[in-house]
Amino acid sequence: MRILLDEERVRQGVQQMASFVTERYGDQPLTVVGVMTGSVVLLADLIRLLEMPLRVGVVQASSYRGAMNRGELVVNSELMPDVAGRDVLLLDDIFDTGHTLLKIVNHVKSLGPRSVAAAVLLRKAERQEVAIDPDFAAFHIPNEFVVGYGLDYHDEYRNLPYIGVLEPADLRDEAP
Ligand code: IMP
Ligand code: MG
Repeated sequence: MRILLDEERVRQGVQQMASFVTERYGDQPLTVVGVMTGSVVLLADLIRLLEMPLRVGVVQASSYRGAMNRGELVVNSELMPDVAGRDVLLLDDIFDTGHTLLKIVNHVKSLGPRSVAAAVLLRKAERQEVAIDPDFAAFHIPNEFVVGYGLDYHDEYRNLPYIGVLEPADLRDEAP
């Protein structure tokens, strides 16, 4: 495991995200919605830096393998508070191709919010496949597979307090 962003740098990035959110919304009520499961650590750290009246919820996007190459993304918003008329900030660990964020933004928009924005901790270089950009990304990183601070490899490593890059010895042979 090679450390890409140590605990202190991650903390600074989350602080910058909190400043962005505070400047954007001021004292207005906000609903922060974390994308499961990768955003849990970020969600917990970010909301404790925010001081406006806040609602918190989560949403999940699962991918089901269909006839096409790419598994179809299905959004589960059962654990999301009512967002009608609310300012909503979606939170995710990483913006990679952007398909997850696009799907969830469109779903939330269909629920009649006042506004929808998105913030991510990490943004990978040269991977974007959709015409949507996060409103805030704390770090732009190279195109490498990263884990920690919520990000997983086969559902492990989410608890690392830093962001690391997996090395060949850490990778499994079997298909996911
Ligand atoms: P996208 O839909 O391609 O933008 O993918 C976003 C999702 O893929 C994230 O929420 C992560 O769960 C996962 N993901 C993408 N890149 C990585 C990575 O380097 N490590 C761990 N998970 C990743
Ligand atoms: Mg995720």
